[in-house]
Amino acid sequence: MKNTVATFRSQKEKGERISMLTAYDYSTAKLMDQAGINGILVGDSLGMVVLGYEDTLPVTMEDMIHHTAAVCRGAKNALVVGDMPFMSYQVSVEEAVRNAGRLMKEGGCQAVKLEGGAAVCPQIKAITEASIPVMAHIGLTPQSVNAFGGFKVQGKSEEAARKLIEEAKAVEAAGAFAVVLECVPAKLAEIITKSISIPTIGIGAGVECDGQILVYQDMLGMFSDFTPKFVKRYANVGEVMTGAFQEYIEEVQKGTFPCPEHTFAISDEVIKKLY
Ligand code: KIV
Repeated sequence: MKNTVATFRSQKEKGERISMLTAYDYSTAKLMDQAGINGILVGDSLGMVVLGYEDTLPVTMEDMIHHTAAVCRGAKNALVVGDMPFMSYQVSVEEAVRNAGRLMKEGGCQAVKLEGGAAVCPQIKAITEASIPVMAHIGLTPQSVNAFGGFKVQGKSEEAARKLIEEAKAVEAAGAFAVVLECVPAKLAEIITKSISIPTIGIGAGVECDGQILVYQDMLGMFSDFTPKFVKRYANVGEVMTGAFQEYIEEVQKGTFPCPEHTFAISDEVIKKLY
């Protein structure tokens, strides 16, 4: 059955935890969908784990639309959320609505995500009023890496913690259907989760969030540039891939691949005529 924003809402009401992962392509989205994931975020983490940038800032609307469309072709049941890249929604409410509309119309996703709290509430309200569900994202918001001075845990002082609680309430009031809490102390994430009626989706925010999300290359051991503390490695797919690549290279060099079973035959009669 297709997961929708209504499914997410009812999962919070029933106390059923929501599972989400990021994906950026058709094949991976299909595997996650078959595994029964509730939601897939086509994150702008694309910039780092797929495109090799140092941060998410260079990612464009065209990148996001291209990858969102691929994921949507693979995800039949998961709710697909397209991430709005840096500067696609900050400049004006009008541009935010237009770009959210493009992600949904051209990318095919069922919702969009954008980073920020009170400062982007006018955008959240306008996009929601255009019938495009919005997932908010507060705490460590990677598009603000330069303003934060690095990737750091957020909300540790009393003042910062109170501000995050207020940000969560503000995005709920603006119409967001869910909110990502990134790199927030677990006990603060628990307070936020209990203070709002929309689901909280945690990444580095402890087990009391209504749901969890991870970048799939992190949880499969496929991205080694750095591994945040909150990542659990569920498999060493990176090692398996490197091993398979090495075996292939060796077999190509030795001439043991391809074997007869990977080769197409032709009748000797035809071949004779070619000499
Ligand atoms: O871009 C992304 O992958 C994200 C998740 C880390 C929530 O925003």
